[in-house]
Amino acid sequence: MVRPDDWHLHVRDGEALQAVIGATAAQFARAIIMPNLKPPVTTTAQAQAYRARILAALPAGSDFQPLMTLYLTDATSAAQIREAKASGIVHGVKLYPAGATTNSDAGVSSIDKVTAALEAMQAVDLPLLVHGEVVDAAVDTFDREAVFIDRVLMPLRARFPALRVVFEHITTRQAAQYVTAVCREQVAAAPAGQPPALTLAATITPQHLLYNRNAIFSGGLRPHWYCLPILKREEHRLALLEAATSGLPAFFLGTDSAPHAAHLKEHAAGCAGCYSAPHALELYAAAFEGAGALARLEAFAGFHGPDFYRLPRNAGKVRLRRTSWTIPESLPFGGNQIVPLASGEVLAWQLAPGLEA
Ligand code: NCD
Ligand code: ZN
Ligand code: ZN
Repeated sequence: MVRPDDWHLHVRDGEALQAVIGATAAQFARAIIMPNLKPPVTTTAQAQAYRARILAALPAGSDFQPLMTLYLTDATSAAQIREAKASGIVHGVKLYPAGATTNSDAGVSSIDKVTAALEAMQAVDLPLLVHGEVVDAAVDTFDREAVFIDRVLMPLRARFPALRVVFEHITTRQAAQYVTAVCREQVAAAPAGQPPALTLAATITPQHLLYNRNAIFSGGLRPHWYCLPILKREEHRLALLEAATSGLPAFFLGTDSAPHAAHLKEHAAGCAGCYSAPHALELYAAAFEGAGALARLEAFAGFHGPDFYRLPRNAGKVRLRRTSWTIPESLPFGGNQIVPLASGEVLAWQLAPGLEA
């Protein structure tokens, strides 16, 4: 298959960055790098410096390309958006509702506070990437994504109809259906022979394709299955699988690989995030094979993302071979250990090393 890209990735900084970046670079040609560092990446200068640190942390000879993003805050100005676009290295701006997830304290308190930034993004065509959950304590954790669609996403898209939006790491039937409906309309509206002008897309993680919320509670409380938005019921997993394998161009690969040291997940207030970078493609292959749709993996992993972001598709190829191997129980992570997603489970596919066309 064509060499894939990861359209939603956390690589952290410092020794954590050093520990994880090689795993992604071995699997993917490019990745959209999330900006939720402490402090967050809010300016183009910070994104440039972070990009340089990522490039410096890569294994020798790697041609991996980090695609940078800015972290939207109530203080982001239109001028900062125009500067980001002009830099050529910033490919999106990330909206974290304040308090929704890991390192989101500096996030947006209300959409009204970011009107100028959103207008500028629409004008210069810089995509908005959203963590789509409401933070209202009155809303059940498992409903926060579905409620976000009605309360935030639909009004936002109505106000900024030309703004291109990526609904990140979708986890519900409601999100899959909403993105599917918009995509079908936009595909139908495209002139014959022309690519559709999509204004809405969604990334889907391997954990949300492979597991439902029972995984968090099977035989005890399992912190390594805890991420946000949290795993949902089986009906939602099936809807996500249907969307990912539909062939619709609005759905593409975004691992949301989100490394946290094992002791910070095995904790009274465990961190949210699953670390899937070392075996992400193999996990997706398992999900697609389970749905009888292995032939659709290439477009999901290698075509739809670059088409939406208006970047060239990769020229190189990779090969997955059928084998049997066990995901390690734990991996080194700076001075600590990290437990990868689905540690100890057996996979039926493995990325063949070093193959490039
Ligand atoms: C992410 C992280 O750890 O940075 N965690 C997660 O559970 N997905 C943040 C995010 O993507 O929401
Ligand atoms: Zn998120
Ligand atoms: Zn994420």
